[in-house]
Amino acid sequence: MSDPVPQPPAITPSPRRCPGMRGRPRTTCIVGSPLSAAGGVAVTGIDLSQPITPTLREMILNAFLDYHVVVFPNQVLSREQQYRFIASLGKVEPHGGRNARAKRYAVAHVISNLDGNGRPVDRSSSPVSNYRWHTDKAYNAVPPMLTALYAVELPPQGGDTEFANTQMGYAALSEVTKQRIAGLRVVFRWAGSRHAPGIPPLSQTGPEARPPVDHPLVRTHPVTGKKALYLGNHASHILGMPPDEGTALLEELLEHTTKPQFVYAHHWRVGDLLIWDNRCLLHRAVANYEVSRYRRILHRNVVRGTVPF
Ligand code: OGA
Ligand code: MN
Repeated sequence: MSDPVPQPPAITPSPRRCPGMRGRPRTTCIVGSPLSAAGGVAVTGIDLSQPITPTLREMILNAFLDYHVVVFPNQVLSREQQYRFIASLGKVEPHGGRNARAKRYAVAHVISNLDGNGRPVDRSSSPVSNYRWHTDKAYNAVPPMLTALYAVELPPQGGDTEFANTQMGYAALSEVTKQRIAGLRVVFRWAGSRHAPGIPPLSQTGPEARPPVDHPLVRTHPVTGKKALYLGNHASHILGMPPDEGTALLEELLEHTTKPQFVYAHHWRVGDLLIWDNRCLLHRAVANYEVSRYRRILHRNVVRGTVPF
């Protein structure tokens, strides 16, 4: 399926300085070296609890386009401050769910491994868990372009998030495969593929009942024009293809684009704020810690995107 040795881009350590923040003329923020060949860059020297200048915003958005995952370490942010920064990058979407108002879902919602009593619980085997490769809300007709996560409480070690670069994955496909998949459309639904044995049937209520949507398997980034694979956990099958064949193709492409050379693994520290580009990445939480022992709490927002094409 792939060329034998895909060549990752060279990593050039070239920190860039960017303009000071409003009211803090001597502050200089720095866009660091790439964190991996697959993406990721840290932006330091910036306090996101304060409003940012238009120039700084542009610099952040450029880093976002170039590196797909931007890490802002050592931030101290209330949910409102996180919301204000993320809302300066685009339209923050309210998150659906129970107790939406009580949990301030429209400001920033909580991603955690806790149950209703605040105790850690292992849900990693759930078919819709974040521990499977996915892109956020691909089952929506207009999926979000960006997701932000802010680390509030972490296990002593592990609890990583991995990102797979689906532009690199696409670029490394053979021409034969590129031609084979050109124009195909993937059906996404909240519950993903339900062909696997042992998975209970869909219920008629709740998020499972949402109608499926279809998106291009090869999507074009609306800003950079680069092509990327669009697939992952909520992908059910390929439109117009026998289900088993479509599922097999999706599994083959997923395995390809999540190979280690296309992956950036983020090792969290409390105070990290991450933003990532859902248009060219898959991601997953990694259960590389005792999930039912240690608490892992992050605050999240998603920013509205456009219809994939
Ligand atoms: C998410 C998500 C992964 C993680 O918030 O969309 O997939 O590591 N999170 O918590
Ligand atoms: Mn996710």
